[in-house]
Amino acid sequence: MSTVNEMDPKIIDGKRISKEIKEEIRDKVSKLNREGKEVALAVILVGENPASQVYVRNKQKACEFTGIKSLSYNLPEDTSEEELLDLIEELNHRDDVNGILVQLPLPKQINEERILDRIDPKKDVDGFHPVSVGNLSIGRPGYVSCTPAGIIELLKRSDIPMDGKNVVIVGRSNIVGKPMAILMLRENATVTICHSHTKNMREITSQADILVAAIGKPKFFKKEDVKEGAVVIDVGMDRDENNKLCGDVDFDDVYDKVSHITPVPGGVGPMTIAMLMSNVLHSIEI
Ligand code: GUN
Repeated sequence: MSTVNEMDPKIIDGKRISKEIKEEIRDKVSKLNREGKEVALAVILVGENPASQVYVRNKQKACEFTGIKSLSYNLPEDTSEEELLDLIEELNHRDDVNGILVQLPLPKQINEERILDRIDPKKDVDGFHPVSVGNLSIGRPGYVSCTPAGIIELLKRSDIPMDGKNVVIVGRSNIVGKPMAILMLRENATVTICHSHTKNMREITSQADILVAAIGKPKFFKKEDVKEGAVVIDVGMDRDENNKLCGDVDFDDVYDKVSHITPVPGGVGPMTIAMLMSNVLHSIEI
């Protein structure tokens, strides 16, 4: 299925593609509901981090749209690790909860690893549990981290081939860079990961057929850093000098040189949430 943007075929319209995916999920959830089955996601937010509040609200809105039931747990900033572990344990055992999401970052008194480890891998819709990561790395079925999964889906639905392409990923986080590399390998791409210790990074990015930028620096990549005709996927969610939302790539600067590019906002961001909904839908089969 091709979903090129009719207004500008260069732009990979994540907002529109994510809406299509959410509509497909809504149809499937509605069919399940007619068969008497419900799909439910528990969302846990600890504290009042404003960015996290926005993310959680958007996840709840997507649940409303798709017909997935969302259970919200807003816990105070001073929640102890033990209290959070107890809640996860309770949700692990509830048959009416299919997926569990703990919004990150967590307050400093809580050890993130211990929390993520406690989520039942069968309900790990974020794909952060070591079991999910292990399954992904050896090519077994399982939950995949939503942002890289969303990027693969964006490329597939835009009819952009990955097989044999030179893919350069900038950033090596557990949530984006590393799973992205594994997913690209699965698509038969030749993969390079760049990070803070990489020498001559701009030389490497300028040879990428597909560049995935997840460096977290506003407008870091300029036209000299991208190959003529490259596909640019911008994972950045940064603020420019005027406090305006922007990506890791200087969109206006590279625009004429690239064949495709994701905008910020409206590119990768909405896809992350669509893939979360997809993971929650699949959780009923796991
Ligand atoms: N914080 C930033 N991104 C994410 C995400 O994808 N999932 C969760 N749980 N927390 C996040």
